[in-house]
Amino acid sequence: MSNKPIRKAIFPVAGLGTRFLPATKAIPKEMITVVDKPIIQHVVDEARAAGIEEFIFITGRNKNVIEEHFDQQYELETLLSERGKIDVLKELRAGLPQAGNVIFTRQQNPLGLGHAVWCARNIIGDEPFALLLPDMLPHGEKGCMSELMQIYQKTGGNLIGLKNVDPSETHKYGIASFDEDNSKNARAINDMVEKPAQGTAPSNSMIMGRYILQPEIFDLLEKQHADSSGEIQLTDAMRQLMKSQDFWGYEYQGDIYDCGSRLGFLNANIAFAMDDPELAKSVKKMLKRHVEKN
Ligand code: UTP
Repeated sequence: MSNKPIRKAIFPVAGLGTRFLPATKAIPKEMITVVDKPIIQHVVDEARAAGIEEFIFITGRNKNVIEEHFDQQYELETLLSERGKIDVLKELRAGLPQAGNVIFTRQQNPLGLGHAVWCARNIIGDEPFALLLPDMLPHGEKGCMSELMQIYQKTGGNLIGLKNVDPSETHKYGIASFDEDNSKNARAINDMVEKPAQGTAPSNSMIMGRYILQPEIFDLLEKQHADSSGEIQLTDAMRQLMKSQDFWGYEYQGDIYDCGSRLGFLNANIAFAMDDPELAKSVKKMLKRHVEKN
């Protein structure tokens, strides 16, 4: 197992986003905005705040606009500068990864999350890496990836962000099960199951889309077969890796919003708007009015 530092992060953005149609027919799910920032920008900012230096996007057809978003827009910048909109200009520039540190590779066929991660194998090489699913948006005092990085200093191995969900929700997500050991501020995971049938989940701990994984996962992904839904699942490869390496789960202290679902997306917009001093008061009033009307 490698103990090299975590420098690289994978952002799989090649999924079709069928749960969010028709919004995602021509616009990638990851480019839909939460308040005034595309979801993917929120997630890249989270990774950067955690110390990530290289940003690897697994893209697919109709996702080119994500690449455009992380490019410099000269005409726009010149215009903003001429019009004295310096704050906006600064914010635009701050959102850009450094030149040479952003890599786009294609998943030609959306064969599942496991396959998307495997597409980054040559770019990651032999070092542990972070994986962030851009449709899962954490919201808390501290970034989720920053918290994981801190915990990883103590646990090493593979580390997964978890969040307790209502038992009625467990069938929608990957769910972890545990040994009793909760030393090192993290719990040893002894198994995991992808979208368990209702009433069969081993716990209420949802795998929330934030991971630190060891590079040995790639060999296992390579050998993985598609499941009954036709997708290569990351969970299956992680279960295999668990036979030879430690897996730790860390309960994230903040909230998590599944922006691939309508309710999660609306929730995220309200939560992020309430953080904004310019919006918070009006949003509260607006919500009150809607509640009173209904
Ligand atoms: P989801 O499970 O949310 O799938 O993927 P999806 O296709 O995007 O959305 P639905 O379920 O059809 O509505 C989780 C993350 O993994 C990426 C997605 O882009 C998303 O960020 N993904 C998924 C890929 O990159 N490739 C895939 O083949 C599948």
